[in-house]
Amino acid sequence: MAQPLYEGKAKQVFATDKSDEYIIHYKDDATAGNGAKHDQFAGKGVLNNTISCIIFEMLEAAGIKTHMIEKVNERDIRVKKVTILPLEVIVRNITAGSFCKRLGVEEGIVLDEPIFEMSYKNDDYGDPLINDDHAVALKLATRDEINFLREETLKINALLKEFFLKFNLKLVDFKIEFGKTDDGIIVLADEISPDTCRLWDVETNQKYDKDVFRQDIGDLIETYKAVLERMQTK
Ligand code: TMP
Repeated sequence: MAQPLYEGKAKQVFATDKSDEYIIHYKDDATAGNGAKHDQFAGKGVLNNTISCIIFEMLEAAGIKTHMIEKVNERDIRVKKVTILPLEVIVRNITAGSFCKRLGVEEGIVLDEPIFEMSYKNDDYGDPLINDDHAVALKLATRDEINFLREETLKINALLKEFFLKFNLKLVDFKIEFGKTDDGIIVLADEISPDTCRLWDVETNQKYDKDVFRQDIGDLIETYKAVLERMQTK
């Protein structure tokens, strides 16, 4: 098998015979706490690729520009070649995770407005939270690009919230990444899956996301399968 151009915790990126396209391959690995916890779950890559493709197709149909070209098979997608902006963009609709830990806030408070956050993608420094001025000063993006990211991300949040509600799931928070094509166009990239979102059942608040692995409170594969089943049966 060819050597990946890039290997992340859960995915590999391969060159193709087209200079402006990549193949992304989903692995079965799961990590948490910046790699402190690591395990493999047979079939996780297939589930995340399947779920993410359905979501990217929905977003494309709603007018969001993404890296997606086509799903190649269960584990691989063909995407536009982009340079990923070194920012993790996070939206919070309900308090959870690092927001609660950092600020001493209870989990589960519904926020009056979505919170837009950015982290600097840098494992050595633990992906620190940064603001717009930091991102501009570090030349991670321009002011205009950050304004675009905020607007686009809030649109994506509205679309995702409505989408998951159809399946009786509340979108608590999520992380997305953007990339820049060689033409300088910023598009949504990476993945959107239960690895990158917090999803709670509307009635019971049961967790349907990677928190079952982070917190050892459930079976990751059964949880992700349940998300996909909801998405396929409604
Ligand atoms: P956090 O509460 O740990 O900051 O996470 C917020 C959201 O971002 C949550 O849905 C999980 C997602 N996320 C990732 O996808 N990758 C990451 O590396 C981190 C820290 C969070």
